[in-house]
Amino acid sequence: PKVFYTQPDGAETVIEAVAGDSVMQTAVRNGVSGIVGQCGGVLSCATCHVFLADGDFPPPGEDEDEMLDCAATEREDNSRLSCQLVLAYGQEVRVTVPEAQL
Ligand code: FES
Repeated sequence: PKVFYTQPDGAETVIEAVAGDSVMQTAVRNGVSGIVGQCGGVLSCATCHVFLADGDFPPPGEDEDEMLDCAATEREDNSRLSCQLVLAYGQEVRVTVPEAQL
């Protein structure tokens, strides 16, 4: 899979990811700025918030939806917690990183 990360200033990073990793893990492992992932992916922070521009994923669960209300940058319709976006083989995903995570 491939993940395209767009920073708030428009800069784009493309990462060749590993199937089974989340969009959050992929960012943290590859040093993509702006995605923190403080809780390690267990839905108890909101520091992995992204705006999902393109990519097929199941809709957010109730816990993800509630935690998105705590995001440092106000949520939008396409807001997701990137630790919940698990990449499938061959998938291409585009996300935009919010201004702030903490
Ligand atoms: Fe904490 Fe995603 S890493 S909710």
